[in-house]
Amino acid sequence: ALVHLIAAVRPNFMKIAPLWHALKAAGDFRPLIVHTGQHYDAAMSDDIFADLGLPAPDHHLGIGSGTHAEQTGRVMIAYEKLAMEERPDWLIVAGDVNSTAATSMAAGKLRIPIVHLEAGLRSRDRDMPEELNRLVTDVLADVLWTPSPDADANLRAEGIPEERITRVGNIMMDSYELVRPAILADGYPAELGLAPGGYGVVTLHRPSNVDVSEQLDRLSEALIAVQAHLPLVFPVHPRTRQRLGDTGAARLEAAGIRLVGPAAYVRFMSLVAGAAAVITDSGGIQEETTYLGIPCLTLRENTERPITITEGTAQLVNAGNLLERLLSALAQPKQDRKRPDLWDGRTAQRCVEDLRRRTAARG
Ligand code: UD1
Repeated sequence: ALVHLIAAVRPNFMKIAPLWHALKAAGDFRPLIVHTGQHYDAAMSDDIFADLGLPAPDHHLGIGSGTHAEQTGRVMIAYEKLAMEERPDWLIVAGDVNSTAATSMAAGKLRIPIVHLEAGLRSRDRDMPEELNRLVTDVLADVLWTPSPDADANLRAEGIPEERITRVGNIMMDSYELVRPAILADGYPAELGLAPGGYGVVTLHRPSNVDVSEQLDRLSEALIAVQAHLPLVFPVHPRTRQRLGDTGAARLEAAGIRLVGPAAYVRFMSLVAGAAAVITDSGGIQEETTYLGIPCLTLRENTERPITITEGTAQLVNAGNLLERLLSALAQPKQDRKRPDLWDGRTAQRCVEDLRRRTAARG
């Protein structure tokens, strides 16, 4: 069966890599990678493909940046053309970005069956563009691969028929396991002069945190206060770098915070794996810290990944309570935590089995 795997932005690459490898190894599938080009810088794209052992994309749509409607529209137009030419047996989309919803809308009208990997997550916050992408994609998908029981429950509550839902687990953990030896051997923390367990990692890129300058200022102040207690390294997303400007970046650096460019997967995960704590507004990093048992201070008002709080190491924080919450998390003795069910590095295999069963059922 011919399968299109959509790659668009940095966090998608970690989700499709294990699946591409597993589909390739299975023998009965022909997986092709379609890169929409939503992320295009080498550090945001090519370097991560290389880290995860992915070949160059089979198709590159070259979409680039733009407003939400511009980006979504350009992906729909370009993907419709490709889908009409190649008529894949399955379209697999991951996550919640504009390309996820856009390719689903194009394929849905061509009646190409859609599989959504990481289905069912809900923040219930429609100010988040990703929440709208999740809702659109899940309503169009023929198959919904979920990471956790809360996701199954969300889909049932929205009336998605049971037979469309398969809980496969969290595929991000497969990526980590795929390259774990390289992550643990990577010398990036040492290169930066950071001692294992002696620093914190910061990432920020949500529009709600970085697009409003007062909020970005408040967060910068809070990070500077943390830096006085725990040295911080901050790989800065291109969006955040633009919003900080030279003045904002210089202010953080003057306080001693190490600003570095976006890191590829292995180097970034080597920073996380050695950290005492992580401060982030990312989706995937909430999950990776839960998997690794590292305290995660989630700088958001809500999360579509509640299991990282109920079963994991994360808590929701804001600029006002960040320092206090971080210090108390650091003071807690490290507990032996159970990882969430099916976050075990074998999700891609379960996806292949489910897809094989569903391909046979379609005849
Ligand atoms: C997108 C996703 C978000 C995801 C994030 C991961 C949507 C709605 N948002 O947000 O869910 O968490 O990716 O990073 O799909 N830029 C570069 N180089 C690049 C990519 C972007 O310089 O390779 C610049 C763009 O010009 C733009 C800014 O960074 O000004 C933001 O990029 P964009 O892709 O629009 O959104 P993200 O914030 O990355």
